[in-house]
Amino acid sequence: MNEPTVILEQVSKTFRSGSDDLRVLRDVSLTAYGGDSIAVVGASGCGKSTLLNLIGGLDRADSGNISACGFDVSKLDENELTAYRSGGVGFVFQFHYLLKDFTALENVMLPMLMTGSGHRKAADEAMILLDKINVADRADHFPAQLSGGERQRVALARALINDPQLILADEPTGNLDEDHKALITDLLFSLTFESGKTLLLVTHAMDLASRADRILRLSEGQLLPV
Ligand SMILES: Nc1ncnc2c1ncn2[C@@H]1O[C@H](COP(=O)(O)OP(=O)(O)O)[C@@H](O)[C@H]1O
Ligand SMILES: [Mg+2]
Repeated sequence: MNEPTVILEQVSKTFRSGSDDLRVLRDVSLTAYGGDSIAVVGASGCGKSTLLNLIGGLDRADSGNISACGFDVSKLDENELTAYRSGGVGFVFQFHYLLKDFTALENVMLPMLMTGSGHRKAADEAMILLDKINVADRADHFPAQLSGGERQRVALARALINDPQLILADEPTGNLDEDHKALITDLLFSLTFESGKTLLLVTHAMDLASRADRILRLSEGQLLPV
């Protein structure tokens, strides 16, 4: 058996606001391998984004262990976190976070440039991806000049440009029209069975979730099979 891409062991997270404690994750455990696709569903506010943020190294768990792509995510220092975020993991956020002063093409190129690739190679790779997701004709546009769905697709290209082993996708089809929903869904799932990547997506859309090998429901801080 190959090594798992992601291991969560008894991960807990509580948000404190004033005197109230909100226990979002309670001893959550999960193991995923290359080629696996896992969908996490659950009501709005149940903690889906929190779960992805912890795995993506954007937030810290209160207790438990998270390892992903060979990194001990719960214990990384800033330099290791940067290496993990720019190499191992590709994060498709619920909201796009494209840099407004850079074109679509430049936004997609950035993660490659930051890991030392040359300008020409990064531009070529970025164009290939933009073409795959049907936004190549918007390459020179700035985020403000793109529709919500175009921005979401550009953000997906940015997440994939460094060929991550693990893809974390937070409502990746949320802003897309039906045709592009199908295109993006096909692309995400094809990456798991053609390239052996691990896809962990969170969504409240059951049609998207039903494409995954495994569907888990997050409810009252616990992750249970559907
Ligand atoms: N940084 C934070 N501080 C306090 N509460 C938070 C924070 N982030 C999220 N929450 C709360 O934690 C719960 C889970 O949020 P989230 O993970 O975004 O849910 P989902 O993605 O499933 O809609 C929500 O009630 C939310 O308001
Ligand atoms: Mg969310």
